[in-house]
Amino acid sequence: MPAFSHRISQALTQRDEQGLTRKLLAHQGVHQGKLLHHGQAYVHFSGNDYLGLASSAELVQAWQQGLTLWGAGSGASPMVTGFSSIHQELIRELCDWLGYEDGVLFNSGFSANQATLFALLEATDTLVQDKLNHASLMEAGMLSQATMKRFKHNDVAHLDRLLSDNLCNPLVVTEGVFSMDGDKAPLQSIATVCQNKAWWMVDDAHGIGVHGDMGAGSCALAGVKPDILVVTFGKAFGLSGAAVLTRRDVADYLAQFARHHVYSTAMPPAQAHALLHATHMIQTQQWRRDRLATLQQVYHDTFHRLPGYVATDTPIKPFLIGESECALRLATRLRERGYWLTAIRPPTVPQGMARLRITLTADHSPQDIVGLGRALEQLLEEGV
Ligand SMILES: Cc1ncc(COP(=O)(O)O)c(C=O)c1O
Repeated sequence: MPAFSHRISQALTQRDEQGLTRKLLAHQGVHQGKLLHHGQAYVHFSGNDYLGLASSAELVQAWQQGLTLWGAGSGASPMVTGFSSIHQELIRELCDWLGYEDGVLFNSGFSANQATLFALLEATDTLVQDKLNHASLMEAGMLSQATMKRFKHNDVAHLDRLLSDNLCNPLVVTEGVFSMDGDKAPLQSIATVCQNKAWWMVDDAHGIGVHGDMGAGSCALAGVKPDILVVTFGKAFGLSGAAVLTRRDVADYLAQFARHHVYSTAMPPAQAHALLHATHMIQTQQWRRDRLATLQQVYHDTFHRLPGYVATDTPIKPFLIGESECALRLATRLRERGYWLTAIRPPTVPQGMARLRITLTADHSPQDIVGLGRALEQLLEEGV
């Protein structure tokens, strides 16, 4: 169809002209804080494996054991025969740990967010979201029949004003930790303004495992319990998938009506087995969070004098550059020096706010961070 070809070629050309084309990279593996590419090991500052579980021998072994016990795949969607006792055990463990009655598993955080919002919201409802919420939440809001309103990032007074407007069936959604800025949502204040006015949901993709006692996440740290908690497994759990935790009736409803649950092959049981093990590792291996805290202090000591430094108390460290080309140039030059960083550019972040998104993992050493700081400082001095 000429119309498709024309549209596709125009969109690709425009992306290229704007310097926004992204390349799909095929590396040769990530292992303990290093990324292998064309035979070279780079210090890896681009992942979300905050606790270093993804390549830990213990978790790899747990998945291997899961494969031996359960086979390779689930073979069906959950409502047919894809759901097994190990999936059930994982949900039970998450609920006991995080204080919920029940939950539903999904194959990704993206599908968990979309499925939950699509299943819950009808045309008469109002979805109220933080402006910087993840694309999965924003897109669900745009595609759902509900009215969507957005409050200014972390601005509880704005949220309160919106909620005072007699909105019909409001559902408030925020993240626990924002993925591009590394800042935390004011969850206590959000809980207060939502009280008796709105249901609220927290996507704690970047907070679970990292914050709170035994890694119970942003909500535990803030001492709040949203009506719906989304826990994703692709970050601190070192695996992939997600769980939506909530009241039993809501979980029953999602299990019945969330289309990404009903019509998609269930997560492999071996993965559920590994996730159960990861849940135990997160709770019992406090040393990983202690190490992250030490590395965050090293980051602050090394970077705080550099222009572009942004203080956060999470392992996500945005380093603001401004123009996309400059961020790309810096990432390339840092790569030449053995550091793997990703330049984050619009449309992921607003125009003029391109950045290096530096993420820390318990697999890093203090020397890794000091070395990156020195390299970045030199490049900035050279005017790269
Ligand atoms: C806040 C947030 N929610 C959801 C997702 C999607 O999770 P997944 O990668 O499991 O699809 C991401 C992914 O980066 C995220 O940052």
